[in-house]
Amino acid sequence: DEFDLVITNGVCVTATDVAPLDVAVKDEKIVRLAPSGSLKASRTKRLIDAEGGFVTPGGVDCHVHLQEPSMFGKGSSADTYETGTRSAIAGGTTTVVAFAPQQKSLDSVLTALANTHELARDNSYCDYGFHLLVANPCARALSEFQQLASTEGVTSLKIYMTYEALQLRDNEILSVLLEARRNSILTMIHAENGDVLAWLTEQLEAAKLFAPKYHGHSHAPILESEATNRAIALSSLVADTPILLVHVSEPAAALRIRAAQTAGQPIFAETCPQYLFLTRDDLDQPGFEGAKCVCAPPPRDAEDQKAIWRGLRNGTFALLSSDHCPFRFDDAETGKKTCLSEEYPVGRFRHIPNGIPGIETRLPLAFSARKMEMTKFVEVTSTNAAKLYGLYPRKGSLIPGVSDADLVVWYPDGALGDITLTNDILHHDVDYTPYEGRKLQNWPRFTILRGRVMWDRDGGGVVGDKSYGEFLKRQKSTLNAIWDTVQEEGPFDLEKL
Ligand code: URP
Ligand code: ZN
Ligand code: ZN
Repeated sequence: DEFDLVITNGVCVTATDVAPLDVAVKDEKIVRLAPSGSLKASRTKRLIDAEGGFVTPGGVDCHVHLQEPSMFGKGSSADTYETGTRSAIAGGTTTVVAFAPQQKSLDSVLTALANTHELARDNSYCDYGFHLLVANPCARALSEFQQLASTEGVTSLKIYMTYEALQLRDNEILSVLLEARRNSILTMIHAENGDVLAWLTEQLEAAKLFAPKYHGHSHAPILESEATNRAIALSSLVADTPILLVHVSEPAAALRIRAAQTAGQPIFAETCPQYLFLTRDDLDQPGFEGAKCVCAPPPRDAEDQKAIWRGLRNGTFALLSSDHCPFRFDDAETGKKTCLSEEYPVGRFRHIPNGIPGIETRLPLAFSARKMEMTKFVEVTSTNAAKLYGLYPRKGSLIPGVSDADLVVWYPDGALGDITLTNDILHHDVDYTPYEGRKLQNWPRFTILRGRVMWDRDGGGVVGDKSYGEFLKRQKSTLNAIWDTVQEEGPFDLEKL
């Protein structure tokens, strides 16, 4: 029979294996893996010779903010679904799960979801799903969780322990966890203590310390480790409800997570490239330049980076996600410069929108760093994300007859020499990258989504079209069989407290 696509002579890497194999694709699925070179004479509509290069499952990035209202004033984050997913595909990511934001003024989460569907429909180069961002966990919103998970295919949500516009109190967090537990919904938690942040910000401003680098001081590591500890405690109170600590940046929080995992609690964690490749020195640049690296939590120290790499290698972190949440730099309307004025020539760090771009650079930076086994790279950037968010084995794997043909073909080691990362090679709608000038050793040569070449670095760049991405209804999480453990535990029981 005839295939739609054959990739020959490459070295396939999954979360568990590295082997020279040919890959055949038909009707959007992987249909065969066979010894290297054995499929090159097959009847196929297209043949890609990946001689000496690597073939991995497409990247799965489940921490992405697209077209989200800014919590720092006017406008929204810089990338639309179109430009954000265009950037994703050029960097080897074939699936994103982005946030459907519920504002505090809205009582329905289903309305928030419907609004976000409007933004993404026919406007995505990647397959995509949504997490609900719950800012107002009122009775109506909680009552809608069941429909979210069972009908809408939304099996995860995010809550915040900081930011005035989004912060939940501990009692609200418990209500969300309990209802999430009843519906097998995974709760992602932004763990920073918002009250301490507000207090430190007042102290710094009273001392006239306004420059971008003081964003780092205002987000001292203790804010994160305290809130992480509290989130873990709240999860355990509600009969061990699974949670995922997002964007973990510092070792004390990582240690607390590790201890909870060792004790058998269903605690998951994610880190991001900014905690591996940036430090607090990047916030301390002349003038207002440091604003380019303002995100929360902030980049920490070189020693902390080492601890975060260790946590990725040893399994403390299941995920390496981008937390792509860009704001343009040279944009006084809705960008980083909204807080510049004659009175405040270095701006006021408290008003700099938090977040940086990284959807396209996540895989190239991590792949080039060579600080993890290749299998671990695939595990934390693709397979675990698919498992944790209910997309496995359709996504994140290369199982014939089962997995979508979402693939990245990389160059052979050394074939590109050094690539210099500059903003003009990127495809987002942002006027800078925090990684300007970095040297990279590899870049996705082809990105393939459900059998279709979407990115061809040497043959036209982004060659797919923006209506090819499909909405993914997600199943409940399967990583480490987390809901089986909860089942065993039985329902939350007040008598057992
Ligand atoms: O600075 C960040 N991370 N901005 C994005 C929003 C969030 O908290 O993930
Ligand atoms: Zn966050
Ligand atoms: Zn985020």
